[in-house]
Amino acid sequence: MLWAITTTKEAMRLLPHALLACAVAIFAVLVATEGRSADVRGEEYFTNLPLVTSEGEEIAFFDDMLKDKIVVVSFFYSECTDYCSLTVARLAQVYQWLGERMGEDIFFVSITLDPENDTPEKLQTFKEGFDADKGWTFLTGSRENIDTIRFKLGEKARALNLHRTDMVIGNAKTGVWRRSSVMGSLTIALQSILELDPEHSKSAQTNAEALQAALKINTVYDLSAHPGEAIFLRACASCHTIGYGERYAPDLAAVTLRREEDWLKAYIMNPDLALKAGDPTAVALNDAYPGVVMPNLGLNPVDVEDMLSYLKAADARLAVAEEEAAASFEAFEKAHGLSE
Ligand code: HEC
Repeated sequence: MLWAITTTKEAMRLLPHALLACAVAIFAVLVATEGRSADVRGEEYFTNLPLVTSEGEEIAFFDDMLKDKIVVVSFFYSECTDYCSLTVARLAQVYQWLGERMGEDIFFVSITLDPENDTPEKLQTFKEGFDADKGWTFLTGSRENIDTIRFKLGEKARALNLHRTDMVIGNAKTGVWRRSSVMGSLTIALQSILELDPEHSKSAQTNAEALQAALKINTVYDLSAHPGEAIFLRACASCHTIGYGERYAPDLAAVTLRREEDWLKAYIMNPDLALKAGDPTAVALNDAYPGVVMPNLGLNPVDVEDMLSYLKAADARLAVAEEEAAASFEAFEKAHGLSE
């Protein structure tokens, strides 16, 4: 029989051919699946249901938001008092890094889960609070349309505060869709977005270090040291700096000097309760920062102690730095005969 392999030697000779045939078959299946998924995840899947942007413009979901684009879709609501404003703040950091590519080939789409409350005007204030501009669209719409679209994207929470903090990223042209998160390393989140571009593998920045160097990424968002510092970097640094000016929220430099310790502890643990109770400082702060709200991050009392010891240590360091600066200024004046 023609196909009978009679000797071991013969079998060894044919093995490479068999393996090659297998590889070709597997490759063909992969290509077919990839091709098919591109077809499946089109307008028929994502729908062209109308939603409304923060500028009050009506859009068709697939055609206007996803088609031919690399997209990052996330869910939030503007009155969220826990992780979703932190998610948006961390996403805003990735947005800044993507720079010129935003609105060119990469687009962010953030959809409210609270359309009854989130009017286009509210979304616009929220959007401006995070310096979101070109290429980042905030959407509201009818409850029915939002529910249909979020179910398609795997966001199936039945209560607002149970919603996922991860996001759906994809390239609607190649049909590749994934989940990613901004709650871990932001460099990895950035990389996962860039890798959706088939051309990215040809770029010089395919590894994390090269990317960090090229975009001057501040790795403080990814690292941790002091227990309070770890919490600060993970949960606070997207909105607050200590001594580097306002971000989306007050600079926390000297906050341990301008506020009572007990107030700080209570506020950091439950800012939403302080606001609801009409605490005058909480109300004044909230008025001074419209759009962004200090979130309740679910810290436990130990976290809050760590946080406070970190903020105090930072303030002590700043005080020393200020004294040193004052001393060297004085020495400079003396040396140049400027002081009496
Ligand atoms: C999503 C952005 C965001 C995050 C994340 C965030 N905050 Fe805030 N924080 C604010 C805003 C905005 C205010 C001003 C009050 C307001 O508008 O609600 C504020 C106010 C404060 C204040 C009062 C400042 C003052 O001048 O008295 C403290 C203290 C504070 N935050 C600490 C923290 C700590 C600690 C963390 C992390 C555990 C944190 N915040 C995380 C946005 C944020």
